[in-house]
Amino acid sequence: MDAVKVNLPSHEYKVTIGAGALGRVATFLTTDLGSSPQHAFVIADSGVPRSFVDSVVQAIGANGCEVRVETLTPSEQDKSVETIHELLKQVALSGHTRADPVIAIGGGVVGDIAGFVAASYQRGVPVIQCPTTLLSMVDASVGGKTGVNLSVESSNGEQSLLKNLVGAFHQPRGVFADIEVLESLDERYRVSGLAECVKHGMIGAGVGIEHAGLMDWMLEHSDSIRRFDPVTIQELVVRNVSIKADVVVADERESIEAKAGGRMLLNFGHTFGHAVETIGDLSPDASRPELAPLHHGEAVALGMMAACNAGLSAGLCSQDVVDGLKKVLEAFNLPTRVGGLPTTLKVVERMSHDKKVSGKALRVILPTGWGKCEIINDPDPEWIMDGIDSIRA
Ligand SMILES: NC(=O)c1ccc[n+]([C@@H]2O[C@H](COP(=O)([O-])OP(=O)(O)OC[C@H]3O[C@@H](n4cnc5c(N)ncnc54)[C@H](O)[C@@H]3O)[C@@H](O)[C@H]2O)c1
Repeated sequence: MDAVKVNLPSHEYKVTIGAGALGRVATFLTTDLGSSPQHAFVIADSGVPRSFVDSVVQAIGANGCEVRVETLTPSEQDKSVETIHELLKQVALSGHTRADPVIAIGGGVVGDIAGFVAASYQRGVPVIQCPTTLLSMVDASVGGKTGVNLSVESSNGEQSLLKNLVGAFHQPRGVFADIEVLESLDERYRVSGLAECVKHGMIGAGVGIEHAGLMDWMLEHSDSIRRFDPVTIQELVVRNVSIKADVVVADERESIEAKAGGRMLLNFGHTFGHAVETIGDLSPDASRPELAPLHHGEAVALGMMAACNAGLSAGLCSQDVVDGLKKVLEAFNLPTRVGGLPTTLKVVERMSHDKKVSGKALRVILPTGWGKCEIINDPDPEWIMDGIDSIRA
């Protein structure tokens, strides 16, 4: 079993990574939460094989804790304030106190929802994250960002889903990433999680010398990563969680505005990516429209390609960086182009519209070299348009 520490000054916690990690949750509650909790509220993902959820629930219950389980079928539409409201009512009715934990067992959607429920109930109760997708293990479960999407209608009648606009920073007390649970994850979600690993590789060299080699390591081990060999996947998760932990410790609340530092770098590929993700009817394979909509990681892969090409257009990075990223994404069957994009202007509007509604100026993360990125405020629209055009199939 591996462990990565997130050494935040206010609150240090451990990410336990390995086969059987879920078996450690019950003991953690009695030994590490102060006193044994009387109640626990489990928010479980319906996609996770029930046996994993049941074993956690039984082990916690055996310690005399009353466990309530709510099962959610994750979707971006239901990652909403309405879902939070329903869950908060259930938590209140279960007799939950401030000392009692909320436990998320699921992918990024369930983790973000459960984290926000825990952050809001009585101004904050402990949350334990048990990520069950690769994406949530390497990214979403670590770092304390929680929240939901907001659906708004603007003055021109256009409906927008503003991703993760409502939320709170609420660090977990512990994270348990059980590699065995990934066996049931379907191929497309496995690949989708790899996109966030590539993202970490693309910012790694700027975060610390020890993280500079992630992309090359991923390419070297691409066969066993594609086969989802458990030993290689465990190392992949450890390497990625280490990068995420270092970025979060350096800038917990995304408050560093410097060009090359801070948590904002983790948004590499996401400004473009969110725009294509929310277009709705795009497929990662132009010949298979039934695969629409894009999954989060697929949109991030396209977003990173667009950002790299925007960086090339801005003169910030060389063609080698663009070619290198394409090679890595292709090695993992991630899309680098997409069919059916609306006009470039419409995609730019989509990016700017979301920012305008949320009161933020357009800001993108562009590469400056292999494994290094910078934050660019108010980028030249030409660069953005070049980036979008570069991913058009
Ligand atoms: N908080 C953060 O820092 C952060 C970072 C990155 C992404 N996110 C969020 O994470 C979400 C995406 O997460 P995701 O990719 O995990 O998607 P997801 O939560 O939608 O899960 C993907 C699918 O996998 C299923 N599933 C989960 N575990 C499974 C298992 N072990 N076996 C079989 N099926 C399983 C789910 O039911 C779902 O159908 C987005 O909403 C994104 O905004 C948050």
